[in-house]
Amino acid sequence: MAFPDVRPRRLRRTPALRRLVEETRVAPAELILPMFLKEGLTEPRPISSLPGVMQHSRESLRKAAHEAVSAGVGGLMLFGVPETANKDETGSAGLDPDGILNVGIRDLVAEVGDATVIMGDLCLDEFTSHGHCGVLAPDGTVDNDATLEIYGRMGVAQADAGAHVVGPSGMMDGQVGVVRKALDQAGHQDVSVLAYSAKYAGAFYGPFREAVESSLQGDRRTYQQSPGNVREALREVELDVAEGADMVLVKPALPYLDVIAAVRERVDVPVAAYQVSGEYAMVEAAAEKGWIDREGVMLETLTSIKRAGAQVMLTYWATDAARLLRERY
Ligand code: PBG
Repeated sequence: MAFPDVRPRRLRRTPALRRLVEETRVAPAELILPMFLKEGLTEPRPISSLPGVMQHSRESLRKAAHEAVSAGVGGLMLFGVPETANKDETGSAGLDPDGILNVGIRDLVAEVGDATVIMGDLCLDEFTSHGHCGVLAPDGTVDNDATLEIYGRMGVAQADAGAHVVGPSGMMDGQVGVVRKALDQAGHQDVSVLAYSAKYAGAFYGPFREAVESSLQGDRRTYQQSPGNVREALREVELDVAEGADMVLVKPALPYLDVIAAVRERVDVPVAAYQVSGEYAMVEAAAEKGWIDREGVMLETLTSIKRAGAQVMLTYWATDAARLLRERY
């Protein structure tokens, strides 16, 4: 039999043909916008290492939330940045119903809660004077079980404020189970847990630390994972699903596409990925120099993260990307 004249280029000939056979397409509703609310601000304040991202005042937060929602963004993830005077050893401002994060969650729920998904970052690092994600034992190490008890109460405080989803991101062992149980006991059976299951201790979080005015000295390697480990990520994910995670998350995103793909294969809950501050800042910096096409790279990275298996993506570009995607499709 004659060898058929196979020509893959036939399907690339026109924009309409390419559109017809496009395998992966990002939808605005799959994007989550991480937002920073800073206590005591009357005007939004730019974050120099995250061009275009702000530390919000309560008022500018509400406005930016509306913009995101009208662009079609699927969810908002809120981080609270307390005044330095309100940080302490145990991060108590994170549990306070009148603390900046819970105030912000209530504002967002009142403003756009019917139209989108409101999520709270459930971690202590913004609230502790030492900047660690948990409380410290007398020897200076992060005390896993003492931290869990605080996470449980913090999750309930966020649910009380109206959060639809809480995102435990501190990588403490057992955090998902403890938060789930605390939510249930407080009558918040309907609040979901987005588990930061595989979070790597890498160098991509630099600009975020500026955004939240982190006090951290040292690193998080005793609780976040080593960059080389993928089997360990699967173990973390399986534990989290067993503990009741409704969704699992891999973070960072682009340097860990293989991890996203492996997690997707292993579990059937929705897989999320966090395109972190360093990923965003690299692109913005190169684009500012005119070295790469900002919008092109933005959509290409998100498409790649989705292709690897993430169905929900946290990105500081969420609003801009949603607008571009709406024009495109
Ligand atoms: C910790 C936390 C971190 C980020 C979100 N939550 C980073 C860290 O471990 O310091 C990073 C997000 C980003 O870099 O965009 N609660």
